[in-house]
Amino acid sequence: MTCFGFIGTGSMGSLLIRRFIDTGMIAATDIIASSKTGISANALAVNTGITIKATNNEIAREADILFLCIKPLEIKPVLEEIRHELSEDKLLVSIAGVVSLDDLTEWSGPGVRCVRLIPSITASQSSGAILVAWGRGVTLEDMTVVKSLLSMIGAPVEIEEHYFDLFADLTSTAPAFFAKMMQEYAAAALRKVDVPAALVESLVQLAMMGTVKILSNEETSFNDLIDKVATKGGITEEGVKVLHDQLPAVFDDVLNATQAKRELLKQRIAEEKNT
Ligand SMILES: NC(=O)c1ccc[n+]([C@@H]2O[C@H](COP(=O)([O-])OP(=O)(O)OC[C@H]3O[C@@H](n4cnc5c(N)ncnc54)[C@H](OP(=O)(O)O)[C@@H]3O)[C@@H](O)[C@H]2O)c1
Repeated sequence: MTCFGFIGTGSMGSLLIRRFIDTGMIAATDIIASSKTGISANALAVNTGITIKATNNEIAREADILFLCIKPLEIKPVLEEIRHELSEDKLLVSIAGVVSLDDLTEWSGPGVRCVRLIPSITASQSSGAILVAWGRGVTLEDMTVVKSLLSMIGAPVEIEEHYFDLFADLTSTAPAFFAKMMQEYAAAALRKVDVPAALVESLVQLAMMGTVKILSNEETSFNDLIDKVATKGGITEEGVKVLHDQLPAVFDDVLNATQAKRELLKQRIAEEKNT
């Protein structure tokens, strides 16, 4: 029996645990978890039947595969806390943004095999990409286990770690950006008419869901869809022109802003490394 440990049961930790149980990939009885206050972990245990441990050390000691589902700045202190429980028979899986495989390897100690994932909230619908990068010493068996777990809740995409920052914005942060764009589109309509916001938002959501269905057809590209709706000389074309002119700068700013925040976090992590 493989014991799966989770340190951190917040938004993403609890989502992964629930999805692994719901898809039948892991039995609740094979999952142990801890959180900082114990509140989120205990609430999850009541709903799922997983076992909660009072300390991170117990999780590290008992788990064969250990998921770190904590914020980037918590990774180093938690690994310092549990390092003496880690050994070469453990597989460490971090979902934290920004913290590199090199740092994970250094902080977890010699021989511990490390994997980095960037999951997405879209895993709640068993869809979307999950970025995966393998650290030194990870075995073929480790890869098979991790990929089979992930493939039930999304599409694992193995890529080199140096793409993680940018690709995280195309996968993991993207749902928030898409929702924000739709919210602003609805808000623009609401500045023109006095109707219930719920009506306008549901019209936009229905259009978006239909659009996603059309794009799900592998033969439909963004351009195919735009060309079909924005016919030459028509009304839609005028709106597309505005987006074509103004969106590149907006999205450059979005990617620059997220990267600036990542660099800040990396700097704080590096500063802590040197203390
Ligand atoms: N949210 C996303 O869509 C998303 C997507 C991809 C990657 N991620 C990554 O996932 C990680 C977690 O993000 P999140 O959104 O799930 O954050 P979150 O909701 O704030 O959850 C953080 C969890 O970490 C626990 N924690 C903090 N310090 C701890 C400690 N010393 N020992 C044990 N547990 C500790 C917290 O415990 P309490 O519950 O007791 O406070 C909480 O359960 C981050 O590194 C983030 O980069 C998130």
